[in-house]
Amino acid sequence: MKKKITIKSRYREILLLIRGNRIRLMFAMICMLVIAVSTAVTAYLVEPVLDDIFINKNRKMLYIIPIIVLTVYFLRGVAYYGQAYLMNYVGEGVIRHLRNRLYAHIQQMNLAFFQDEKTGTLMSRITNDVNIIKEMVSTAVTSSLRDVFTILGLTCVIFYQDWKMALFALLILPVAFFPIVEFGRRVRRVSTGCQEAMADLNSFLHETFFGNKIVKAFGMEYHEIKRFQERTDTLFKLEMKAVKAKALSSPVMEFLGGVGIAFIIWFGGGRVIDGVSTAGTFFSFMAAVLMLYDPVKKLTKLNNAIQQGLAAADRVFDILERETGITEAENPIEIPDGPHSVTFRNVVLKYNDVTALSGVNLHVDAGEVLALVGMSGGGKTSLVNLIPRFYDPTAGTILIDSVNIKDASIQSLRKQIAVVTQDTILFNDTIGNNIAYGKADASRDEIVNAAKAAYAYEFIQSLPSGFDTNIGELGGRLSGGERQRICIARALIKNAPILILDEATSALDTESEMLVQKALENLMRGRTTFVIAHRLSTISYANRIIVLVNGKIVEEGEHETLLVKNGEYAKLYRMQFSEPAREGAQAIKNP
Ligand SMILES: Nc1ncnc2c1ncn2[C@@H]1O[C@H](COP(=O)(O)OP(=O)(O)O)[C@@H](O)[C@H]1O
Ligand SMILES: [Mg+2]
Repeated sequence: MKKKITIKSRYREILLLIRGNRIRLMFAMICMLVIAVSTAVTAYLVEPVLDDIFINKNRKMLYIIPIIVLTVYFLRGVAYYGQAYLMNYVGEGVIRHLRNRLYAHIQQMNLAFFQDEKTGTLMSRITNDVNIIKEMVSTAVTSSLRDVFTILGLTCVIFYQDWKMALFALLILPVAFFPIVEFGRRVRRVSTGCQEAMADLNSFLHETFFGNKIVKAFGMEYHEIKRFQERTDTLFKLEMKAVKAKALSSPVMEFLGGVGIAFIIWFGGGRVIDGVSTAGTFFSFMAAVLMLYDPVKKLTKLNNAIQQGLAAADRVFDILERETGITEAENPIEIPDGPHSVTFRNVVLKYNDVTALSGVNLHVDAGEVLALVGMSGGGKTSLVNLIPRFYDPTAGTILIDSVNIKDASIQSLRKQIAVVTQDTILFNDTIGNNIAYGKADASRDEIVNAAKAAYAYEFIQSLPSGFDTNIGELGGRLSGGERQRICIARALIKNAPILILDEATSALDTESEMLVQKALENLMRGRTTFVIAHRLSTISYANRIIVLVNGKIVEEGEHETLLVKNGEYAKLYRMQFSEPAREGAQAIKNP
């Protein structure tokens, strides 16, 4: 599935984004140059201070140099603020863009993606990983340019003061590069492990908080606490590895610095004693070398930040480059509103190695109500999932009227379809807005009518703020049946010509099911309906029933005919009505 993309072109997007900020970058660079020059000037000034003031006792310099120092430090402060602000502006902008891109891409992924990826991991990508990239872009790019300029400036001072000694001092530099590269590599490796452990921790938290009721019901608190501790243990060990790699780079750099200074004292000091050089030159040289230490050290850390950032960027781009799975046709056909027929032609659906549907042929007339029955795992959900293109079939075609749904615009296709499933997913918003979810411009009257038709009006009215009650505030106070009726109202308001009810009344008790059933029957009138119901009694109004076994349609017809046939349907029916004891009860709960 993954496209082969070389490392370089992966990061092109980030680079292009940074380049889009050319003017800001230019000003930031000017600021950095000012900082670098000010550092170099400071190092250079040591020479006149020593030689002119201390040794030659020149009074005029006593006034000139402090004024120069004040000016230099003032400009330096302004420049420092400017580059920090500008570079972070660029960095944060890149991050905002990347986050938005990532979220939009994930939203467009097909359902299979969400079944494969853990929610916690995806969240970790958008929060943690993107943050690490930010560190790389804002901190790293800022300090790298600034430090490189500073190093250049100080090197100029060194060469100006004593080029022979400078040449010798520079011999140490290549030695310094080795630890920089090596530690960076180590940090990158460990940091990938850390981030993956962090993502794992996130999805663990998501699962055990979200499913806390089950954790409690099965008395698994201590088990989960132990499992959590195992994870923090792993994370701890990985983090410590990262700390080791990072912490080693400082002392190694420091030692190399010490070697340099010892050399300068020995070599430069000798030259001053011999009278070839002055004390001012020597100390200015020394100051520049000492000042070099800071930006060089920062550059080694910078490499760590870049390595971590690149590792995070790889994880983010891995997702961005994932194909969305369901793609729109080149010139998509708009499906007009109105009643539609639905046709399946030799449809096969495989999930990896599981065959969910094998060779389904089916034609449902506009306005027909088709019931799908069969034991759990028969392929009923898989079949209806193909109509809104939640999945694409592995083989075969599905037509709406005479349009292959693969050629249709996905938006116009989904606009024709309302779905109610047994998962009663509501969003953290008011009940009114949840009902109007697919129809943002719905009036209060429409919302109330939909609620009434779904038999949800009364319990909504009894809530503290009625339709303005927030789902989040209610917490777990809504019953499964109440949530399901809100979901039904949400589908009702969409007023779509194709209706998919996948165990839409499974969470209702018998009484409210009968009420909602009436509402659904009204709703189905004139609509092409696919209804999957766990109770066979509730599909009596269907025009036609199909029985799915192992992904195949094994029987098809009306209730009476199928009973007479005494096949699979009759078996299901008997299980529910005559022997509700064991086998049957299970089939009723979980068809
Ligand atoms: N996302 C999936 N990945 C892999 N297998 C799946 C997936 N969804 C369903 N299946 C399998 O496909 C078969 C049909 O499932 P499903 O359509 O949900 O049946 P039903 O709705 O009739 O209970 C089952 O064997 C099920 O395990
Ligand atoms: Mg199902």
